[in-house]
Amino acid sequence: MKRKLTRFDLQQMKEKGDKAVWMTAYDFTTAQLAERAGMDMLLVGDSLGMAVYGYPGTVPVTMEQSLYHTEAVRRGAPNTFVIGDMPFGSYHGSVEDAVRNAVRYYKTCNVDCIKLEGGKRAAHIIRAISDNGMLVMGHVGLTPQSTAALGGFRAQGRTAESALAVIEDAQAVYEAGAFAMLVEAVPPEVTRMIAQELPIPIYGIGAGADCDGQVMIVSDILGIFQAFTPKFVKKYADLGAEMLKVFEAYIQDVRTGAFPAAEHTYSMIEGEMQKLAALRKKPGKKVKRN
Ligand code: KIV
Repeated sequence: MKRKLTRFDLQQMKEKGDKAVWMTAYDFTTAQLAERAGMDMLLVGDSLGMAVYGYPGTVPVTMEQSLYHTEAVRRGAPNTFVIGDMPFGSYHGSVEDAVRNAVRYYKTCNVDCIKLEGGKRAAHIIRAISDNGMLVMGHVGLTPQSTAALGGFRAQGRTAESALAVIEDAQAVYEAGAFAMLVEAVPPEVTRMIAQELPIPIYGIGAGADCDGQVMIVSDILGIFQAFTPKFVKKYADLGAEMLKVFEAYIQDVRTGAFPAAEHTYSMIEGEMQKLAALRKKPGKKVKRN
């Protein structure tokens, strides 16, 4: 049986130069397969808003939706490091609310850490959650919950000023007590500086190869998500096209009578059909329709 990684394993992987591989998952079956494949970590990302619920972004996702999917993933992957993603609004009010919502993840879903977006502005929240004995993964660079402020899903750190802001955010997240960090959609040079300068594991999505591991969104690597494909995605399959073929074939089979065939049906036990015929001949209550 696979042993679940701890923060110390992840730290050691960074020190040895071993890359951690993780992806998002939102349901039991995907989590089970990911664990079987040997995935190091699973993130129940608020990207579920787009991937599962069809929202235009992550902002509408609620704590209840996040907990519901995280519980399913934990059931599917009991021996994998599972990350709960704090949705928009769950840590934007008071520090007390943020700590309470982080606690809900631990109590309801038995997560291994929580992740939240933001650099300097989130430092006091990271500090409060860490001080209460929970593990926090930071998330800097493109932070999808703030696309309104960022002007859309835009890469960050492409100018000297913007790069400095990302680096300072990463520094603040580290100093606030985060045990690891995700850097999203920034040039590789910037990620490299962060990964070299900070002692904690730095993971990337759209942030180049020079960091301590990669995360991808499961519906992107499977080729299921239809709305758009970010530049940084590698599609490992076109399951969307495969699914379409399956659905069309099924429709065709039912309409033409090719499905269900004999092998898809149950047979009556020998002699029972005659007994049924005899039972139906006996006078009984008539079926009436009102
Ligand atoms: O919610 C999510 O899926 C994320 C990705 C950027 C990995 O945070």
